[in-house]
Amino acid sequence: MLKAIAAFFCGAIIVFASEDRAGAQDTAGQSNSRQDNAGPVKATVTLHLDQAKTRIAPEIYGQFAEHLGRCIYDGIWVGEDSPIPNTRGIRNDVVAALKKIHVPVVRWPGGCFADEYHWKDGIGPRDQRPKMINTNWGGVVETNAFGTHEFMDFCEQIGAQPYICGNVGSGSVEEMMQWVEYMTSDAKSPMANLRRQNGRDKPWKLKYFAVGNESWGCGGNMTPEYYANEFRRYNTFIKNYGANRMYRVAGGPNGDDANWMEVLMKNAAKFMQGISLHNYTLPTGNWNGSKGSATDFDEAAYHSTLFNALKMESIITRQSAIMDKYDPQKRVGLVVDEWGNWYDAEPGAKMGILYQQNTLRDALTAALNLELFQAHADRISMANIAQMINVLQAMILTDKEKIVLTPTYHVFEMYKVHQGATLIPLEIKTADYVMNGKSVPEVHATASRNADGKIHISLVNLDANRKAHISIAVPSGSSLGGGRILTAPELNAHNTLDQPEAVKPASFDGAKITGETLTADMPSKSVVVIELQ
Ligand code: AHR
Repeated sequence: MLKAIAAFFCGAIIVFASEDRAGAQDTAGQSNSRQDNAGPVKATVTLHLDQAKTRIAPEIYGQFAEHLGRCIYDGIWVGEDSPIPNTRGIRNDVVAALKKIHVPVVRWPGGCFADEYHWKDGIGPRDQRPKMINTNWGGVVETNAFGTHEFMDFCEQIGAQPYICGNVGSGSVEEMMQWVEYMTSDAKSPMANLRRQNGRDKPWKLKYFAVGNESWGCGGNMTPEYYANEFRRYNTFIKNYGANRMYRVAGGPNGDDANWMEVLMKNAAKFMQGISLHNYTLPTGNWNGSKGSATDFDEAAYHSTLFNALKMESIITRQSAIMDKYDPQKRVGLVVDEWGNWYDAEPGAKMGILYQQNTLRDALTAALNLELFQAHADRISMANIAQMINVLQAMILTDKEKIVLTPTYHVFEMYKVHQGATLIPLEIKTADYVMNGKSVPEVHATASRNADGKIHISLVNLDANRKAHISIAVPSGSSLGGGRILTAPELNAHNTLDQPEAVKPASFDGAKITGETLTADMPSKSVVVIELQ
């Protein structure tokens, strides 16, 4: 039996068929068989150009960098005396790669680490900085060599805004208040003078500041009622110094925890500019057992990763609906400041390092998530993939003096054209990709128009085996301005030091415009970005 399901997004509507069995006919008259030699999936995308009004916050393409495993040390910081080429201790190859994807914002220093971090330990002469134990991540000794000045320098080198996460769990209100003064005040005040003494005369521009991390878990195991009060108290002392204006982010829910969102919005919405949401994708969905391998997986595990990744849509929809109740004007932004795929660490990796490889599967789910965030651009003000380098769904993997760009990096690079553009709401008519009784849409998409009037359409063919033939009505007189594709022969294709370009973008020649119809013929498991002029 075939059931038509319409999923209505703010920015995209996907109409797809849900079936109890593979091989049934979908709404477009296509076979839904899993055979490799079945014909292409057919899909239709309708662009609502007349409804394009919402700006896609560039910050949706943000990143997260925690003192965890080799993200900061090795990944970003090698020290001034390292043989690895660096600028003031920060590796040049990583900076050059990150500049190419236009990282808008970086969240730091955690994560769970943030609620144990005492910022004063990370300033002043490096050889005099106190050490600490990073209890969350392998119990390693943290040298504090990378602190506030080094992080701000890193942000300036890559051209990103800083997003600082303050310590509520084990820090004081005074400590948080002084950190903000240290970073942003230009007065002749004690903290600003301390900053000057440490070599930085002018304050930094700092907009984004989070009041704690996962206060429902590693950040203090608080109840929402208790945290809402704590948020109100800490938040009161995060001041705007001079012209600097803070965007204060309250610690929001874990995934679909509706009660946490409800209590926070009810008790504290008027004090915040943003509220966070954390949601990770595990192929098995099981936090207590094996999460699944990053590279050694079959089509069923691939499909369940897609299925679980797409839960982000219902989570955002549900949490946004609660926010709408208390904030119908959408003044408060939803900040998805931790998201990504979380697998078992690579065999042999030390405990608490969270080092995992990154395959074509990760590229496809990165594209899905970015498309979902764009569809909700009216509410989502920022998102930060976890994490930037060497941890979880990373952009870059490093090994001593070498680096590898991951398939996820390439999606961020291809999709950067959407940053700051105007969302074009769209509808997709597509069949289901069904496995083990679970359905995901075969085709996913997003579109935007930039300041020059160029339209970018990003498409994902999720099917592991079948090509997709996609039709899109476009304005008369449109012409193709180019296209790029990311795909590989295998779902688990990935880049290594020996084969750093196994997965990389290529130019796409499968698109053409005939009259007022754009068609795109995509291979299975691929991501395409098309430009229209
Ligand atoms: O990103 C890894 C960890 O996941 C973060 O430290 C924490 O906030 C989350 O649980």
